[in-house]
Amino acid sequence: MAVNENASNEGAGSTGQILTFPEGFYWGSATSSYQIEGAHDVDGRGPSIWDTFCAVPGNIKDGSNGDVACDHYNRYRSDVALMSELGFDAYRFSIAWPRIVPEADGAVNTKGLDFYDKLVEELLGAGIRPLPTLYHWDLPQYLEDANGWVNRDTAYRFADYAEAVVRRLGDRVDTYTTLNEPFVSANHGYVTGEHAPGRTSMAEGFAASHHLLLGHGLAAERIRATAPSSRVAIVINFTPAEPATDSEADRAETERQNDLENRWYADPIAGLGYPAKTAEHYEWDYSEVHDGDMALISAPIDLLGINFYTRSIVSADNSYVAPPDTPRNTMGWEIHPPSLGSLLRELHARYKFRSYLITENGCPMPDDKRDGERIIDDDRLAYVRDHIAQVHAAIQEGVPMEGYLVWSLFDNFEWAWGYGPTFGIIEVDYQTQERIPKKSALWFSDAARTNSIEI
Ligand code: FCB
Repeated sequence: MAVNENASNEGAGSTGQILTFPEGFYWGSATSSYQIEGAHDVDGRGPSIWDTFCAVPGNIKDGSNGDVACDHYNRYRSDVALMSELGFDAYRFSIAWPRIVPEADGAVNTKGLDFYDKLVEELLGAGIRPLPTLYHWDLPQYLEDANGWVNRDTAYRFADYAEAVVRRLGDRVDTYTTLNEPFVSANHGYVTGEHAPGRTSMAEGFAASHHLLLGHGLAAERIRATAPSSRVAIVINFTPAEPATDSEADRAETERQNDLENRWYADPIAGLGYPAKTAEHYEWDYSEVHDGDMALISAPIDLLGINFYTRSIVSADNSYVAPPDTPRNTMGWEIHPPSLGSLLRELHARYKFRSYLITENGCPMPDDKRDGERIIDDDRLAYVRDHIAQVHAAIQEGVPMEGYLVWSLFDNFEWAWGYGPTFGIIEVDYQTQERIPKKSALWFSDAARTNSIEI
């Protein structure tokens, strides 16, 4: 389907003002392996914790799984061609650990590496910067059978796997990201149980959080040794919490939430250690932390990847009710762009990392308006535009932002929510696997080509 149509901002409420980004700022989209690849049982891929989790009735809202998803494993060439047609500069994807090291014996599966090698070549050939993430939640099942991230050894296995990938892809990749959203891995996977592996223990959550960070540190060391000219990044999700009232109880609870969600990973990476008051509050005794771990974890990174979707308003007794006209996406998350601007300023003031990239930002919307075949998603367009404007403002205030990646390239498998929420700027017809860019994709394409947006 044609992508070179007019993508005006009208209908999404525009003032006509143009914001131009610094030279070198880059634009692109993000995905992850389990959410789009499909091909779950080909070329030697072993099972992941998500295959196992999806097979349990009740775990996924629509009973679905990632067996086929967007069939990207077989369609990567045309998918890259589509990104290129849209003028995107960069593509963030993740590598499926169970394709690379499918079995407990640790042997590396060449066919798994071949796929990512071909994908990287295809991207480079199209002038698109490949930005792989080594872990976006699809842990090999055999490691979960050995106690998953609660087991310290998983961190060492992660570093071995990372080295195998980096040996193959080398400096064709200029930035390797170790983990995606370690908070969600530890919290949703081990504390609330809403994600694979579906465990529900606070103590296991703390153990997993430390071993994830240790895995980051160990993998970073191997990346630096194997591809010295590549950069090392980690992607952390931030959901800034604000107190519902000025009461001491609300403020204390907000502080704890900010510690657990927004500082638990970034503080140790920046050398500030774990947030001590909150560790004490939850009676975590640091027993998993061995001598030397914190130094390894705080070895300087080159880039912080920021995933941002929403903020949260916290009341100690859960009594806060948002005003009925609060704008929300179809998953119920509040839409509040100024929180991204303040987050970026606060992160840089606190951590002074070398560089920052928006690695995910986007929203699921009803997608119920069409012009012919095309979804007219003015609501998503406005969300993306208004958040990009916040990035622009942060740059003006001196925050070194290097790019913006929208979540997501495609509608895809949204974890426990299944295929219900549609985050894509490109629609996927799961019957035919046809890709149809939504209006927001055309608008984003203009932004990428002109390095500017109209607000
Ligand atoms: C993030 C995940 C990503 C996607 C978005 C909506 O937490 O990293 O895979 O599910 O949320």
